Amino acid sequence: MKIFNDINELRKHLEIYRTEGKTIGLVPTMGYLHKGHISLVQKSVKDNDITVLSIYVNPTQFGPTEDLDKYPKDLENDKKLAKEAGVDVIFIPTNSVMYLDNHATYVNVDNLTDNLCGKSRPTHFRGVTTIVTKLFNIVQPNGAYFGQKDAQQAIVIKKMVKDLNMPIDIIICPIVRENDGLALSSRNTYLNTEERNQATILYESLQKSKECIKNGEQSATIIKDMIKEMIEEKPSATIDYISIVNEDTLEDIDYIQGNILIALAVKIGQTRLIDNLRMEVNLIC
Ligand code: PAJ
Repeated sequence: MKIFNDINELRKHLEIYRTEGKTIGLVPTMGYLHKGHISLVQKSVKDNDITVLSIYVNPTQFGPTEDLDKYPKDLENDKKLAKEAGVDVIFIPTNSVMYLDNHATYVNVDNLTDNLCGKSRPTHFRGVTTIVTKLFNIVQPNGAYFGQKDAQQAIVIKKMVKDLNMPIDIIICPIVRENDGLALSSRNTYLNTEERNQATILYESLQKSKECIKNGEQSATIIKDMIKEMIEEKPSATIDYISIVNEDTLEDIDYIQGNILIALAVKIGQTRLIDNLRMEVNLIC
């Protein structure tokens, strides 16, 4: 496994693979790897000759009051997990490598970034789409792997690739969860024991919603109220949003029909967690 910090050296190395006709898969991450990240690596290793993992805590996707400075890091463990999972190349740039002092260019996807996390994190997706575009230009992968855990991010990146004619397949991998349902996240490490116990309410309320919709409930308001009630029972929980949206437009819906996404963002103590559930609902009225 090779490790690069420098863009030109990485490019030179990847060029060798390309001239050999090898396919390259890219897994972009912010590090502090867990089984969710590793599931993306495993899919890339299966699909491609070469897998590149990037580890970079991208400052432009963090708001001024967010956790950029305390974002968890464990580079040695990341390298170990990456190697075990079959990563060929890790790219670990510094801020000065990724953003020159006079950086002035950003990529913005309209509309899809207005709702859900875009509401409370207004500059977040601009940061994500900019860094992902830079990583795509640096690595020039055949495919790039993202998790359904960040559902809006996945949809926004797919749209960006389509609109800007980027010749890259975007592969979205399922959410990896703990045994009790909590979606794996690097930020789960911030939770104390009591908060960790309460955090399962995101998954539990999504499962309850699924059951209600399967039993014929068609009102988004009724489902959202039910989720709200369940979450508000947890003393450490503060709701950021509970939304039911059309999966293509990410606009709120009143009537549950078609491809829908139920998306939640909830603060447990000081830690903001997200989770979601996709459903295809074809009810005949
Ligand atoms: P990060 O939060 O490190 O996540 C990296 C990738 O792992 C994302 O595609 C995310 O959706 C996926 N992932 C995280 N938890 C997962 C889980 N429990 N199951 C499946 N996949 C999971 O997302 C980012 O970094 C950044 O925004 C990035 C795309 C790297 C741009 O900076």
